[in-house]
Amino acid sequence: MTIDIIKKAAQILFESKSTIALTGAGISVESGIPDFRSAGGLWSKYDPSEYATIDAFRSDPEKVWRMLRDMDDLVANAKPNRAHLGMGELERMGFLHYIITQNVDNLHQAGGAKNVIEYHGNSSTLSCFGCGSRYTALEKKGEYPAKCRCGMILKPDVIFFGEAIPQEALNRSFQLARSAQALMIVGTSAVVSPANQIPIIAKQNGAKVIEINKEETHLTGHITDVFIQGEAGTIIPDLVVGLKEMIQTAT
Ligand code: APR
Repeated sequence: MTIDIIKKAAQILFESKSTIALTGAGISVESGIPDFRSAGGLWSKYDPSEYATIDAFRSDPEKVWRMLRDMDDLVANAKPNRAHLGMGELERMGFLHYIITQNVDNLHQAGGAKNVIEYHGNSSTLSCFGCGSRYTALEKKGEYPAKCRCGMILKPDVIFFGEAIPQEALNRSFQLARSAQALMIVGTSAVVSPANQIPIIAKQNGAKVIEINKEETHLTGHITDVFIQGEAGTIIPDLVVGLKEMIQTAT
């Protein structure tokens, strides 16, 4: 990718007083977790209407746990990659204020980011529909399907299709999008609502939009100001280097 497009994006981040990011599964692909809609992604193996809706879970939890077990194995061994680490560094440098993520893999936090809003929950805890008990994924490691002491099959605290996004996450993210001067969109096809409203709200309120993706999305033509095509694990570190150079020359 051309250096000057990195410089253009870095300049936006350098000048922005309130920068947020919206991330999706693409940012964790280089940690070994496949995304959903690329070729070979999770939805090419498991039909989301059969495995990823709350109705599917309620009617046949054992079946849904076959997919959850697959995801568990991938997430349990995943480490933050250079994109997660780079975003943690952007936050520490003061060039990134909040990350709104659709991912449930906890890798932004593991990569050093502190201000993370999780739209779709987090797979590190599980709850019982029956008695309300909560467990950590560690407590239930290797137990498939994971069961509550009351005998019910547990559900990971991730949002299935048909469930509401946590109200606090929704309110806070829309508030941040309204006041953002810059928005980074990293590794998401932006097809799932309401997360895909964030770029529209930010753009409508004057934010400059930087999109980082291996391929163009439906946002690229009309919402995105700077499209950087490629892998997030390469591009985010390049942005960090670009900003460090700007700090050097500015002092
Ligand atoms: N670097 C940058 N982008 C990448 C990379 C990478 N290394 N690998 C894949 N991508 C891009 C793909 O090109 C695609 O546009 O990341 C995007 C991933 O899109 P999806 O698989 O649709 O994942 P996501 O957008 O997070 O899905 C949103 O849908 O199924 C639900 O709940 C699930 O949170 C998920 C939501």
